[in-house]
Amino acid sequence: MRVLVVGSGGREHALCWSLAASPLADSLFCAPGNAGIANLAECVAVAAGDIPGLLAACRERAVDFVVVGPEAPLVAGLVDRLEDAGIKAFGPTAAAAALEGSKGFANDLCAKYGIPTGAYARCRDAAAAKAYIRERGAPIVVKADGLAAGKGVVVAESVDEALAAVDALPASVGDAASELVIEERLVGEEVSFFALVDGATALPLAAAQDHKQVGEGDTGPNTGGMGAYSPAPAVDAALADDIMARIVRPTVAAMAAEGRPFKGVLYCGLMLTDDGPKLLEYNVRFGDPEAQVMAPRLMSDLLPALVAARDGVLDKFHLRWRDEAALCVVMATKGYPGPYDTGSVIGGLTEAGKLPGVTIFHAGTRLVDGRITAAGGRVLGVTATGATIAEAQARAYAAVDTIDWPAGFCRRDIGWRAVGQS
Ligand code: AMP
Ligand code: GLY
Repeated sequence: MRVLVVGSGGREHALCWSLAASPLADSLFCAPGNAGIANLAECVAVAAGDIPGLLAACRERAVDFVVVGPEAPLVAGLVDRLEDAGIKAFGPTAAAAALEGSKGFANDLCAKYGIPTGAYARCRDAAAAKAYIRERGAPIVVKADGLAAGKGVVVAESVDEALAAVDALPASVGDAASELVIEERLVGEEVSFFALVDGATALPLAAAQDHKQVGEGDTGPNTGGMGAYSPAPAVDAALADDIMARIVRPTVAAMAAEGRPFKGVLYCGLMLTDDGPKLLEYNVRFGDPEAQVMAPRLMSDLLPALVAARDGVLDKFHLRWRDEAALCVVMATKGYPGPYDTGSVIGGLTEAGKLPGVTIFHAGTRLVDGRITAAGGRVLGVTATGATIAEAQARAYAAVDTIDWPAGFCRRDIGWRAVGQS
């Protein structure tokens, strides 16, 4: 099978790492990829958002199967266009990707089908949003309806802060905020739960926890994710069954009933509240950096599972996982998530990658004159497996300390909540 992965981040490196190991993958391509992915796949210089360019690249290379990493091309209809052109693709159609593309759609679906989430209101103008905020009081959450690359949510402690967010969001995220969702603030421990879905059947993948904030102790501005680990000690087998029964399967059934059957990865962002798990948001793809900690734990071949999801035959499928933990520390360029420079040289990667249990996934990297250089905000996902999360953490930080990159930084406390529980 000739396989193309779409995207250029650490998640796509992890996907390529799994797919390259599949005996079914005769050829592996990645568009556009990065310097690490180039060791596993032939990188094709087409951006993830360039749908005509991706169609042409698939035809030129006789690609049989496409795996889409990021959400934006899914919401824009990449899978629909590929399938229309006779190219099999893993991921939801645009109609099904609305679960992530519109928070209002997702909330309405939950309300209609009894899927547990917070109380909310969809507001099409600022005056309506402000009136609802005044009526409900604080704390309260203000969200842009559309895709906002992690910048569309403000968890406000006071009414004034929430009112200010209503005014500020359109300036920071543009059209994504043309509709706002105002939501009850949920309290508890946050976990990410992943399932593979074929339109009707959902197969649980794994649970993970990430660290969205840039600063140690989970402080400072939100980022794309500064680190993650899996499994999530807070999600035992009984809770995983409960999440499947109360949230994942009802969502799959609801989407089918709405005439938008969901295929792909359903990523449920959950709050474990005193009243049980509640949905914070849906994503319609693997997480980043959660994929980096799921890939090393997966024992089964990923490719036939993705093909089975696309073909609608997941009910015959079973996946095996290693009884090991994995932890990923993201190394980012100093300045991120604010402005940062590019082009700094990164050394020590070969030595770090040889340490026990360690795999280094690249995100924003570029090969320049034979040297790996930083080309983005999040640059490396330094990942390690271990018998426990504590062991995986120690191994990942040993690798971080072997990497010579003065222009980079990372959080030193990834996994703090889990260490001691696992
Ligand atoms: P999202 O962009 O929807 O992933 O939201 C970003 C983050 O905001 C989540 O990971 C949560 O930490 C937080 N968040 C979103 N919705 C809520 C909510 N209703 N209550 C509390 N925190 C929330
Ligand atoms: N780690 C958060 C995300 O992938 O959206």
